[in-house]
Amino acid sequence: MSSATGAADVAHVGLAECVVHWQAKHGRHTLPWQRTRDPYRVWLSEIMLQQTQVATVLDYYDRFLARFPDVQALAAACLDDVLALWSGLGYYSRARNLHRCAQQVMALHGGAFPATAAGLATLPGIGRSTAAAIAAFCHGERVAILDGNVKRVLTRVLGFAGDLAESRHEKRLWSLAESLLPASGIEAYTQGLMDLGATVCVTRQPRCEACPLAQACVARAQGRPQAYPVKTRKLRRRAWCHALLHLTQGERVWLVQRPAKGVWAGLWTLPQADEPSTWVDWAAAAGARAQVGEAFVHVLTHADWTLTPVQVCLPEGAPAPAGLEGRWFHGAEALALGLPAPVRKLLS
Ligand code: ADE
Repeated sequence: MSSATGAADVAHVGLAECVVHWQAKHGRHTLPWQRTRDPYRVWLSEIMLQQTQVATVLDYYDRFLARFPDVQALAAACLDDVLALWSGLGYYSRARNLHRCAQQVMALHGGAFPATAAGLATLPGIGRSTAAAIAAFCHGERVAILDGNVKRVLTRVLGFAGDLAESRHEKRLWSLAESLLPASGIEAYTQGLMDLGATVCVTRQPRCEACPLAQACVARAQGRPQAYPVKTRKLRRRAWCHALLHLTQGERVWLVQRPAKGVWAGLWTLPQADEPSTWVDWAAAAGARAQVGEAFVHVLTHADWTLTPVQVCLPEGAPAPAGLEGRWFHGAEALALGLPAPVRKLLS
């Protein structure tokens, strides 16, 4: 192996056993998805936990299961209801894939999730690492996970300096992750790596003093845990600005559904224009007064989105807005829809 990946070639016998022991003593054991081997429940938790912290997921997880207790119920649901329950978790493509995945499990697999990581990875929204996590937790399959947290743990421990923006380095790290798997105890090992990444080997201030791998950790010996993982290709962030029309008439609010592709795809939102003046002029033409609210920034993966709400109250009895896409919803009805988190906040 080239020096680019530093000490990564060294045989790391015993690392996995350290993780397994540490997990038993210091890892998390009482999360609701740890009390089951039901692939539906484990799958749901793993999808929710992508890009979202445990504390946030807990609430959503219970509500989702209460409404959709099994894959059959989820497959039979309409997408709007799924998005409504997902509302606020963000990354809505996860919810759309979740729904498609449930439908494929019903249509192609007779209602049972495939029992291997390879089979799971053929389904929508289930990548290699998620497939491995489900197979390890539900069936004890000896397969490697490599999500963002685990990449951080392993690159630090191994001093793996290859640039993960390059697929050859990513592939190499997958091979190393596989070579580190314990002979037994894959469930505890998998959970242990996740727990280490979430609670000890964190991005900014890793708690090396609490880490079972500290003795072996190359990044720690180098005194630079933050140098790992190496990933050069950064997303170029963009700045967007729009004005949202918060149009009400009595108890009703005007909402429009976003297109099926792009940001907030399929969710219900307030009509959007480039400038607040668009809505101020629109209100004047409708014989109503507009109040321009305070702009706020909504942070997306790839953009900082500045949104300015413009409040317009149409007098009771005024005709429905002409030329404005969307429809009226009563207050409670609106809050039951799939709404992006900032829109929900504005409405409530
Ligand atoms: N992050 C991803 N999967 C997880 C799990 N099963 N438990 C805790 N955090 C996680």
